[in-house]
Amino acid sequence: MQEVASINSIAMYFAAAILAATAVQAAVYDDGYETVNSPTQPVQVRMSYQGSNAMMVSWNTFSQIAQPTVKYGLLPNLLLQTASSSDSSTYPTSLTYNNHVKLSNLLPGTTYYYLPQGGNETKPYSFTTSKQTGNMDPFTVAVVVDMGTFGPLGLSTTTGVGAANPLRPGEQTTIQSISQQLSSFDFMVHPGDLSYADAWLKEEIQQYLPNTTRVMNPTVYEHINNAFFDELMNITAYKPYMVSPGNHEANCDNGGTTDKSIGVKYTEAICPVGQTNFTGFRNRFRMPSAQSGGLENFW
Ligand SMILES: *[C@@H]1O[C@H](CO)[C@@H](O)[C@H](O)[C@H]1NC(C)=O
Ligand SMILES: *[C@@H]1O[C@H](CO)[C@@H](O)[C@H](O)[C@H]1NC(C)=O
Ligand SMILES: *[C@@H]1O[C@H](CO)[C@@H](O)[C@H](O)[C@H]1NC(C)=O
Ligand SMILES: *[C@@H]1O[C@H](CO)[C@@H](O)[C@H](O)[C@H]1NC(C)=O
Repeated sequence: MQEVASINSIAMYFAAAILAATAVQAAVYDDGYETVNSPTQPVQVRMSYQGSNAMMVSWNTFSQIAQPTVKYGLLPNLLLQTASSSDSSTYPTSLTYNNHVKLSNLLPGTTYYYLPQGGNETKPYSFTTSKQTGNMDPFTVAVVVDMGTFGPLGLSTTTGVGAANPLRPGEQTTIQSISQQLSSFDFMVHPGDLSYADAWLKEEIQQYLPNTTRVMNPTVYEHINNAFFDELMNITAYKPYMVSPGNHEANCDNGGTTDKSIGVKYTEAICPVGQTNFTGFRNRFRMPSAQSGGLENFW
């Protein structure tokens, strides 16, 4: 009898341990490159102006959200207002969902605090709406072009075979530098060539990404995109990020990449559905296109 009891308590002990482990595992989501608290934790938080009375708040999640929601308010500890949408969508090969919520009826030239739902952050992000249309006061804009991913998937202190110009040890990245000067500008414009995810094949040919193969392309390309917009969050969660398309947004092929070691020139034909025709760019952003008579994000 006693033996049975002790076996039972051992079994219960293991059951409890397994339950605890499962609970921890269920809470964390790891897509192979990044670990988040849950598949609905906001990543890649960014915003865009929608006139002087509105702001689009966008973020990605690893699973779909039924009703993307943003809490916001005029004081950081009083996010009493909420805005929601049903705009949580993905596209073939994407590893995440793009969520977009428009905050309307805002005051012009006013600072708001906000948090997208689903995160564990307690300190809200903030933004300042644009000045009233017609206000002729000067404004300051940070402009970046041709800015790609920094770190192990992009520009770092090492290079692949045959590549040049790494970051010097201790050197700041452009993203770090801009994020330390947030108070000196109103918004950031990035008119094309975002992330350089389309450099994935070149990086592989140069053996910069040693543990990936061309077969893994769809994942590698998307991971580089995700890494870039994660890095950018220290800026884009606080300053509107206005983008337009460049050639590097077009498809996964970077205008044709040659592997000299095997004498093969790759073309757009290697790009799967989801990595052609500006698909990522069209899904990731909601620029004020309607207001400017544009098509989708081509505004
Ligand atoms: C949110 O979760 C991360 C990862 O588990 C943790 O490092 C961080 O401290 C948490 N933040 C808060 C405010 O709880
Ligand atoms: C690549 O894989 C090898 C073997 O698993 C491992 O030792 C190495 O750290 C990996 N390199 C990178 C950059 O992940
Ligand atoms: C973002 O800011 C935090 C806090 O200052 C810092 O620890 C982190 O390294 C920054 N991220 C990047 C990509 O610069
Ligand atoms: C590319 O996307 C645009 C905008 O949605 C669409 O009008 C066009 O038909 C697409 N072209 C191709 C080749 O899929």
